[in-house]
Amino acid sequence: MSGDQVITVDGPAASGKGTIASGLGRLYGLPVLDSGLLYRAVGVLLQRAGGGLADAAAAAAVARGLRAVALDDEAFRTRGAGEAASQVAVHPEVRQVLLALQRDFAAQPGGAVLDGRDMGTVICPDAGAKLYVTASPEVRAERRWRQLTGQGESVGLDEVLADIRRRDARDSGRAAAPMAPAPDAVLLDTSEMTIDQAADAARRIVEAARAGQTP
Ligand code: DC
Repeated sequence: MSGDQVITVDGPAASGKGTIASGLGRLYGLPVLDSGLLYRAVGVLLQRAGGGLADAAAAAAVARGLRAVALDDEAFRTRGAGEAASQVAVHPEVRQVLLALQRDFAAQPGGAVLDGRDMGTVICPDAGAKLYVTASPEVRAERRWRQLTGQGESVGLDEVLADIRRRDARDSGRAAAPMAPAPDAVLLDTSEMTIDQAADAARRIVEAARAGQTP
C-alpha cells in the first residue's frame, strides 16, 4: 500500500480530531474513517448480546461481524458507548480483527483520512501526513459535555472530565497499540483554537508534509 495520499489524525477523546478529519476529507475529496466508531459498535453490540466487555473472544466475534453493520446508529455516540469502546479496545484480538478493515479503507485508490488512536503508529505507518491532535482535559471535557447534553444526555461536566481522564489513562496505558503520537506526527494543540483555526492549522500541516515528500 502506498500511503502518500493517506492522512492520519490521532489524539484523545474530544481533542477535535473528528472535526479536523472530516474537514480534511471534504477539502481533499477523500473518504474519512472514524475508527473510534468501530470500537464503539463492538462495545455496544457486545453488551446488547449480553456479553461482558472483558470477554476478549466474544468481543472479537462481534468485531468479525462488523462489516455488515450500519455504523450510523445514534447508540454508538453516547457516553456509555465511548466507555465500552475503550474497554473492548484493550483486547489485542479485537484490534487484530479491525486491523484488516481499517487497512482496506486506507488502501482505497486516491487515499483516505483515518481518525483514531493508532492510525499513524499501527494502521498506516507509511501515511503521507500524520497529525496528533490534543487539547487540555478541561477543554475536551467541556466540548464533550456540550455534545452529550446537546444529544439529550443528562450528565455533569465533572463526570465527563472524570470519564476523559479515565479513558486517556486506559487508552494510553494499554499494551496493545496504545494511544501515542507517531514519531513523525505533527502535534496540534487545539485548546485555544476555534474550529476554523484548527482546520486551517491542520491543512497547513498536511500541505507541508506533502510538499516535503519525495515523489
Ligand atoms: O474516538 P472515540 O472517542 O470515538 O473512541 C472511543 C474509544 O475507542 C477510545 O476511548 C479508544 C478506542 N479506540 C482505539 O482504541 N483505537 C482507535 N483507533 C480508535 C478508538
